[in-house]
Amino acid sequence: MSRHHRRAAGFGLAAMLLLSMQGANAQEHSYTPADIDNGRGLYQANCLGCHGDQGNAVESVDLSSNRLRRASTDEELAALIRSGIPGTLMIPRPQFSDGELQGLVAFLRTMASQTGGAGSEREVALGDPSRGQQLFFGKADCGSCHGVGGGGSRLYVDLANIGGRRTPASLENAILYPEAELREGQRFMQVVDKSGAATVGLLMNQDTDSVQMMSLDERLVSFGKRDLEAWNFLPSQMQSSRDVLSAEEIADLVAYLVSLKAE
Ligand code: HEC
Ligand code: HEC
Repeated sequence: MSRHHRRAAGFGLAAMLLLSMQGANAQEHSYTPADIDNGRGLYQANCLGCHGDQGNAVESVDLSSNRLRRASTDEELAALIRSGIPGTLMIPRPQFSDGELQGLVAFLRTMASQTGGAGSEREVALGDPSRGQQLFFGKADCGSCHGVGGGGSRLYVDLANIGGRRTPASLENAILYPEAELREGQRFMQVVDKSGAATVGLLMNQDTDSVQMMSLDERLVSFGKRDLEAWNFLPSQMQSSRDVLSAEEIADLVAYLVSLKAE
């Protein structure tokens, strides 16, 4: 078991995925399939942890759009990846060869042409909110974790004002790709003590010496890191609905979530 996967804190990781991967694939440059594949592998190994599946997990950076703030040409993009951005978590990567940089650029550019970018603003289908509400507390079983103005578990976010906080597209993403949601304050961790006993819970707080969690039976527990064998973030506790609900049902659920706005 790896010792700890602490994600770089300090910037909001708002993972917002794009649904439509089949969009127009017109691209002026031509990148070879081999470059794109090579770049995809490099991206997964070196970049995905921060930038996410769809390139927009770092706040205010959308690698899946062609509107990067700091690079417009392919050459500038390659140079940026190699030299990093001083004073940020985007460190220099002098280890990449020209061929590898070409692959990364090819991958990022095709990612952009496939998604059209701006994931959280794209239009999504909105169905019927009252059918969505029935699904939420019925078949889709969302209410077994989430309250809406109370009623849920203390371990999971209450969704009372979710429609006021997130765009429809990002709400759809939250349902379809929960594994990509790395939200500060909503992350579950497993700690293993020296005897091998494991505890899972919602991370409340941690510093260099200790970890505080709310365990799955909703008790506050604290561990000294010195007494632990390992502490790891867990993947999302929320299952994706993409193979469980129809497109129409998802549209109904999204409409219900959008309607949840606190006064
Ligand atoms: C440890 C986290 C981390 C990793 C790993 C990482 N980045 Fe970044 N990256 C950032 C952050 C944070 C920023 C934004 C810095 C800022 O502007 O404050 C950023 C910015 C960028 C930008 C500039 C975006 C713009 O709008 O101009 C590009 C391009 C980029 N990263 C590409 C990559 C690529 C390619 C990789 C993998 C080789 C990678 N990053 C790995 C954290 C990371
Ligand atoms: C097993 C418990 C569980 C169930 C069931 C569940 N969720 Fe979640 N949900 C979570 C957790 C944990 C998070 C925090 C982010 C993550 O881990 O993906 C979350 C996050 C969310 C968010 C984002 C919250 C925010 O603050 O932005 C939304 C929206 C959401 N869930 C909606 C739903 C809907 C709709 C359903 C039913 C289809 C559902 N959830 C079912 C546990 C659950």
